[in-house]
Amino acid sequence: MKLLLSVSYALPLIALLCFCVYFYSLTFTSSQPSHLPEFVSTTNHSSLSASTPPVYEKLCDYSDGKWVPTKRGPLYNSSTCAKIYKNQNCVSNGRPDTGFLYWRWKPSECHLPRFDPNTFLQLISNKHVAFVGDSVSRNHLESLLCMLSTVSKPKRVRHQGSRWWLFRSHNAILSYYWSPFLVEGVQRKTRGPPYNTVHLDRVNMRWARDMDQMDMIVLSFGHWFLVPSVFYEGGKVLGCMSHPVSNCTVEIGFDNPIRRALRTALNSIIERKVGKGNGVHVIVRTYSPSHFEGSWDKGGTCSKTKPYGIGERQLEGEDAQIRRIEMEEVENAKARGKQSRGFMLEVLDVTKLALLRPDGHPGAYMNPFPFANGVPKVVQNDCVHWCLPGPVDTWSEVLVQMMKTMAE
Ligand SMILES: *[C@@H]1O[C@H](CO)[C@@H](O)[C@H](O)[C@H]1NC(C)=O
Ligand SMILES: *[C@@H]1O[C@H](CO)[C@@H](O)[C@H](O)[C@H]1NC(C)=O
Repeated sequence: MKLLLSVSYALPLIALLCFCVYFYSLTFTSSQPSHLPEFVSTTNHSSLSASTPPVYEKLCDYSDGKWVPTKRGPLYNSSTCAKIYKNQNCVSNGRPDTGFLYWRWKPSECHLPRFDPNTFLQLISNKHVAFVGDSVSRNHLESLLCMLSTVSKPKRVRHQGSRWWLFRSHNAILSYYWSPFLVEGVQRKTRGPPYNTVHLDRVNMRWARDMDQMDMIVLSFGHWFLVPSVFYEGGKVLGCMSHPVSNCTVEIGFDNPIRRALRTALNSIIERKVGKGNGVHVIVRTYSPSHFEGSWDKGGTCSKTKPYGIGERQLEGEDAQIRRIEMEEVENAKARGKQSRGFMLEVLDVTKLALLRPDGHPGAYMNPFPFANGVPKVVQNDCVHWCLPGPVDTWSEVLVQMMKTMAE
């Protein structure tokens, strides 16, 4: 299990490195609006709701349901979205089965409308929406960008080491801030300490310093807490995960560190944003399970070609635990921030719908044509990230419903 984790969780790092090379930098131009209005605006929403048909069910629980077959495929493919990151471009990499593209999430309580890029762009007009987290967060944002670019092409810019996409058509910004712990920390490296060093009580300034410019923040993380780590609080060692060094005698696992890191991030948003006349809308996207089958030494893969059906897979173990911690911390933060005007906090609960999609990962097709010359001795498999297009597109379908409700 440890070995399997060590390989599966090296992926986010590899992915990030490639990503940095892949997206060349552009200079920030002065035509960009210097200030974006607050999220809580009193002017836009009435006109918006007048032009938007009320097709959504307000109190629907989108997290519970099943995957049902559909004839209609995704909104984009590798020809219409030129920017699919190569390790997630499964169809172009030769994945032979395309059945995984023809499923829709059917919540038990209601109907989930198909993603409408125009509605989403309207909802983010004059706003800056930041995705903060690990490479699965980036995976989600790239899926969203592919769907939005079917109606409006963003301009990519670099902003102090982070990536922003400007939608001139709607005076809107989507951004991605790499911050796998949300708090300050250094990921383990092939060269360097083979464990993470994480300060659970210090928010990561990489994203926090730009907080004043954000109207909505989508936080998501988790995977990087499951590998060997040394956790600090108040500058002192609090404990470790998986005994990374012989002198770390206090094994504290991942739950408490995940809880503390999320609490630090949410507290920091409440402290910096709330009550300053500057509203913020925060969404915690819950943990996205991985699907390695079999043990690592027998080649952990994810080769299923269909979603799990009813009763085939329960939400349990690590996946359930991390999700529960996220839910609890969101409730705690809601209580702390509730007196504050303009502070909205919700959970985008994708854990179950993601859990039921073992077929949605790149697996061996993270690399182009992995079996072109027969089956190699070692096949690298990615069972953490999601193919684009793929089930991760659904996350934005749920997100847009939440945004509509919150915009009312
Ligand atoms: C991608 O979608 C476009 C438009 O729907 C279609 O014309 C094209 O054949 C598709 N390309 C691939 C590679 O599937
Ligand atoms: C282990 O010992 C080294 C060297 O004394 C020290 O730098 C490090 O902080 C210690 N780690 C823990 C987890 O106590």
